[in-house]
Amino acid sequence: MTVDSQTYRDAMARLGAAVNVVTTGTRDDPVGFTASAVCSVTDAPPTLLVCMNRDSRARPAFHAGGPLCINVLSAGQRDISGAFAGKLDMYERFTFGHWTTMTTGAPVLEEAVTSFDCRIDRIVEVGTHSVIFGLVESIRIGGALGGLVYFNRAYHALPHGGEDTQEGT
Ligand SMILES: Cc1cc2nc3c(=O)[nH]c(=O)nc-3n(C[C@H](O)[C@H](O)[C@H](O)COP(=O)(O)O)c2cc1C
Repeated sequence: MTVDSQTYRDAMARLGAAVNVVTTGTRDDPVGFTASAVCSVTDAPPTLLVCMNRDSRARPAFHAGGPLCINVLSAGQRDISGAFAGKLDMYERFTFGHWTTMTTGAPVLEEAVTSFDCRIDRIVEVGTHSVIFGLVESIRIGGALGGLVYFNRAYHALPHGGEDTQEGT
């Protein structure tokens, strides 16, 4: 039995996922896009992956050997998600939110729920997407913010539901 791509997309739309802004470059020359296709690979060494469409304008920057930062968005940041998923140029996208850096120099969103500052380990091309593996070099955990999830082609806010507020690298 074969599954056509539209059926696959319709089914994947029902697999809810956190919304993130994935960045590379530097604070002076930043690049980023919105991605929900982000997941953990292993905690030893701490590794995650991001799937990026090969048509993305951001693709060359990620292939240039720079850093990688996954900024997990909060319930109140749909505008940031929209900015990084739309037609704005890179400069305009980064006028949304406040940006800093940590270890690698990749742009880090100060108001993120959490940020994973990574070095790109490898990029594997699979079908329409580039699968970017990041080795996590530092982490910033934000305040008690609710999460933002994309499910059934719509945003949904999640309550924070916990007491933790901490920062660390
Ligand atoms: C909620 C949401 C999740 C998205 N997830 C991904 C993703 O995981 N990978 C991807 O390549 N594009 C994803 N996109 C689409 C990209 O954000 C969008 O195509 C891209 O930013 C377009 O601009 P660019 O060509 O400059 O990258 C997502 C968009 C939205 C709104």
